[in-house]
Amino acid sequence: MASPVSSAPGGVAVVGSGLIGRSWAMLFASAGFRVKLFDIEPRQVTDALVSLRKEMKMLELSGYLKGELGAEEQLSLISGCSDLREAVEGALHVQECVPENLEMKRKLFAQLDKITDDHVVLSSSSSCLLPSKLFAGLAHVKQCLVAHPVNPPYYVPLVELVPHPETAPATVDRTYALMRRVGQSPVRLLREVDGFALNRLQYAVIAEAWRLVEEGVVSPGDLDLVMSDGLGLRYAFIGPLETMHLNAEGMLSYCDRYSEGMKHVLKTFGPIPEFSGATAEKVHQAMCMKVPDDAEHLAARRAWRDGCLMRLAQLKHQLPQ
Ligand code: NAI
Repeated sequence: MASPVSSAPGGVAVVGSGLIGRSWAMLFASAGFRVKLFDIEPRQVTDALVSLRKEMKMLELSGYLKGELGAEEQLSLISGCSDLREAVEGALHVQECVPENLEMKRKLFAQLDKITDDHVVLSSSSSCLLPSKLFAGLAHVKQCLVAHPVNPPYYVPLVELVPHPETAPATVDRTYALMRRVGQSPVRLLREVDGFALNRLQYAVIAEAWRLVEEGVVSPGDLDLVMSDGLGLRYAFIGPLETMHLNAEGMLSYCDRYSEGMKHVLKTFGPIPEFSGATAEKVHQAMCMKVPDDAEHLAARRAWRDGCLMRLAQLKHQLPQ
C-alpha cells in the first residue's frame, strides 16, 4: 500500500481539469496559491493549460482578471501533473472536479485517502451527490466535505459547503476561510440534504415556471421575463428573506401582513411536473426561437451570459454591501 505523502502548507491540487477544474485553478491562482492540475486524461491537462492562458490574458486585457497578480504571474503558479500522488504532494487543499458519477468519485476518494495525511482537506465539487455517500468508510472522513461551486465559478462566487456527518468542524472552518481568501462567497449547510440549498431553490422555481406555462397562464418567453426583469434584479443583491424584511416594516410585519396571502397561493401549487410531452415541446420551441439549439448559437449565448455576469460581479464589488 502506498505511504502517505507530506502535505506541508502550500498549494492546492485540482483533480479533474474540465470546465470546473479550470475555473478553480484560476480562482486559486488569483489569490497567489500554487496549483497542481491533474487529470486522468493527460491531453485534458495540456488543453486546460492552453485555454487558461488564453482566458486569463483576455481577462487581463479587458480589466476583469481577479487578484493582485498579473496574468503571467498567475499562470506561472499553475502547473500540470500526470501523477495523482505528485499532484497532492504538499497540498493543503485538494479540490476534486471529476464527472458527476458516484462510483468514479468514490474510487478517486479511496485513492486520495491512501496517499494523503491527516492535514489536507479533501473537497468535492459535486453538484448533488451526498457527502454520506461520497465519503463513507474513508479513514480521513473528518477532512472531507463538498464545496459545490456555481457555474461559471469565476463570475458567480457562491460555494455551498456541505459536511459529512463526521466532518470535523475545523475542516469546514478552514475551507470557509480558503473560499473567502480566493474571493468566493461560501455558505455552510449544517447538514446534508438532497439538492443542497441552491438546487432546492432552483428546482422550486423551475417547477412553478413549468406549471404556469403548462396551465396556459403565461408564455415561456414572458415567464423568463418575470425572473430576468423582475425577481432576478432584486435577487442579485438581496435574498428572499431580506426581501420580506424590507418589503414591510421588518420581517414580523411582513409575516403579519402577507402570510395568509402567501399560504393561500401556496395551497394552489400543482404536483411535480413531468418535464416531458407537449409542454416540453412548447418550451423547447420557444427557447429555440430565441437561441437556436445548435452548438454555435448556444456557445455564443453562453459567452454573452458570462460577459454579463462578469460585469455584474464587478459592479457588485464596487457597490457598498
Ligand atoms: P467535465 O466533464 O468538464 O470534466 C471532468 C474531468 O475529469 C475531465 O477532464 C476528465 O478527463 C476528468 N477525470 C475523469 N476521471 C478522472 C479521474 N479519476 N481522475 C482525474 N480526472 C478525471 O466536468 P465538469 O463540468 O468540470 O464537472 C466536474 C464536477 O463539478 C462534477 O461533479 C459536477 O457535478 C460539478 N459541477 C459542475 C458544474 C457545471 O455547471 N459544469 C457546476 C457545479 C459543479
